[in-house]
Amino acid sequence: VSARSLLARATERLAEAGVASPRADAELLLCHVTGVPRALLTVTARVDEAQRRSYLDLIEARARRVPLQHLTGTASFRHVDLEVGPGVFVPRPETELLAGWAIEEADRRDAAVVVDLGAGSGAIALSVVSEAPTARVYAVELDERAYDWAWRNLDGSGVVLRRGDMAEAFPELNGAVDVVVANPPYIPLTAWQGVATEARDHDPQLALWSGPDGLDAMRVVEQVAWRLLAPGGVVGVEHAEAQEQSVRRLFAGRWSEVRDHRDLADRPRYLTARRPPTHRVSS
Ligand SMILES: C[S@@+](CC[C@H](N)C(=O)[O-])C[C@H]1O[C@@H](n2cnc3c(N)ncnc32)[C@H](O)[C@@H]1O
Repeated sequence: VSARSLLARATERLAEAGVASPRADAELLLCHVTGVPRALLTVTARVDEAQRRSYLDLIEARARRVPLQHLTGTASFRHVDLEVGPGVFVPRPETELLAGWAIEEADRRDAAVVVDLGAGSGAIALSVVSEAPTARVYAVELDERAYDWAWRNLDGSGVVLRRGDMAEAFPELNGAVDVVVANPPYIPLTAWQGVATEARDHDPQLALWSGPDGLDAMRVVEQVAWRLLAPGGVVGVEHAEAQEQSVRRLFAGRWSEVRDHRDLADRPRYLTARRPPTHRVSS
């Protein structure tokens, strides 16, 4: 079978099923099955029978809206590849910006202490430790299955990973952290209809939903960041597009330099703030 005709058929099947990027997904799955790089797919003419069969199975799974990354088993995030599959949130491209912010903040300091709340696959923590190698990175994850994926991805990286609730995590670091970063669950329970089938059916519930206004976990993040950060330390949190003002209100008051940042599509995406430095009054 020629790769070209197989791709055309697969693309059509995925488009029918409502997949957002049918051609790209068809190509990436064929790369996965054949091991041929994407640029050469239509140049290498033939796919053998066994490959054709596994490919069509994957296309059928994708048509049932299993996330592409669960089928290939990996997700790329900045400069790292994470192993992903059932039970863990697939890291998203928009979160690469928040991770970039954390890396820059870590780079400003010598041996910065960085904490990632809600590690998921470990995408943010692994990016920070690989792009800011002098940083000391800690991560916490509550969900047992997600924790297992994070463990696989972070083993040997130097990141200190702990299983537990972020609300109580790392008491030994109270007041000693330079950068707190979090991509918490933030979708309001009432917004389920607007969520892509792939996410709704395959990302873990604990990674998505967070109470009626979507901010239950964010309120905990604000408290935990305050507890962990040294005076002058910074926090960065990802939020939904509609939450720019509500998250800002959460950080109004005791935080300074509260700023919201937009993503590449110009949507409000993450907020950063500083725990004010303490000023000693000299006598
Ligand atoms: C939206 S996912 C983000 C995962 C990863 N940081 C990323 O950006 O791809 C949120 C993660 O926070 C975890 N989580 C939710 N509540 C938590 C809590 N109270 N303590 C620790 N982790 C929690 C979820 O299990 C999930 O893995």
